[in-house]
Amino acid sequence: VTEDQTRITSLASDGLRDALTIADLESLARQRMDPAAYDYCAGGSGAEATLAENLAAFARRRLRPRALVGVAKPALATTVLGRRLELPIGVAPVSLQRLAHAEGEVASARAAADLAALFCLSTFASRSMEEVAAGAGPGVRWLQLYLLRDRGVTASLLDRASAAGYDAVCVTVDVPVAGRRHRDLRNGFRRFMAGQPALLRDLAPQANGDREAALARLDAIFPNPRATWADFEWVCSRTSLPVLAKGVLRRDDARLALGSGARGVVVSNHGGRQLDRAVPSIDALAEVVQAVAGEAEVLLDSGVRSGADVLVALALGARAVLVGRPVVWGLAADRAGSGVAGARRALELLRDGLAEAMVLAGAGSVDALDPSFVA
Ligand code: GLV
Repeated sequence: VTEDQTRITSLASDGLRDALTIADLESLARQRMDPAAYDYCAGGSGAEATLAENLAAFARRRLRPRALVGVAKPALATTVLGRRLELPIGVAPVSLQRLAHAEGEVASARAAADLAALFCLSTFASRSMEEVAAGAGPGVRWLQLYLLRDRGVTASLLDRASAAGYDAVCVTVDVPVAGRRHRDLRNGFRRFMAGQPALLRDLAPQANGDREAALARLDAIFPNPRATWADFEWVCSRTSLPVLAKGVLRRDDARLALGSGARGVVVSNHGGRQLDRAVPSIDALAEVVQAVAGEAEVLLDSGVRSGADVLVALALGARAVLVGRPVVWGLAADRAGSGVAGARRALELLRDGLAEAMVLAGAGSVDALDPSFVA
């Protein structure tokens, strides 16, 4: 029996505590999830070139450590939009988290709140924003929003986000249409049939409580290929919450976002789920950071799987990173438990990995990181 086989066996029998990497959590999740639901979460669009490149682009970055800086315990705390966070790693908006764990987004939001990390709830979350706010305890929370074809629905989501104490709205700008996901097509997987977005309940009144009718109504308002920056600007004018644009990969779009009222941008290719062959987020980061020139917050998602990845993103100018799949794998790995421990484990692996990388690189705080740390 090889060391690897022993490790795989012990992972299968125990689980969370033995998971040393996000890949470990993923292999547990894969054993514990419905295969089509796993594919929905793991997969990307088209030939999955961007999905793979997101990871490869991080993996090829090399670091330039500083020696004898005297760092024993690096400071990981940061602020985003003026709010203090104990770690520069947050939970990305991932739809339908009940596919991974019965508690869904309440568990992942709780994990984030426990660690004083940012949590962003998807419009297509399987728990409502009020359930999450009530169940997760105090924490910094954002609502992710699509520019739906019905401003009335968008307005009601914005009002509910304010009322439920959400701190910001993160508008996804890279979904004119949903990316073509071959795994889902082959599996016959229909996401809104397999997992219920809590939003359906809001649409159901107009559909007389009929689920099929509510789904048809959802189809009628999402996606919205005609959306433009004018719609983004309308969202900014309709809410008093700060608004960010998620899915920016170019300097001109970063400027348009700011000109339209964005207080931040998230450099993202939607985890390789939208335009296949889009550039890896980490390769687009420096361009966007330069274009924003300190006028707004820049965050990044897509491909972050280790503490060293986080270090690279921060060094290249991200204020914080968001992780989606790692948290889903944590939830699913903890299927027999509360889900909170699993989601926490994912965030802790990244947090501890970042701290270790910062000690080894000689960076005493996140502010000490700059592009000189990346080769
Ligand atoms: C939802 O945004 C997805 O990428 O599936």
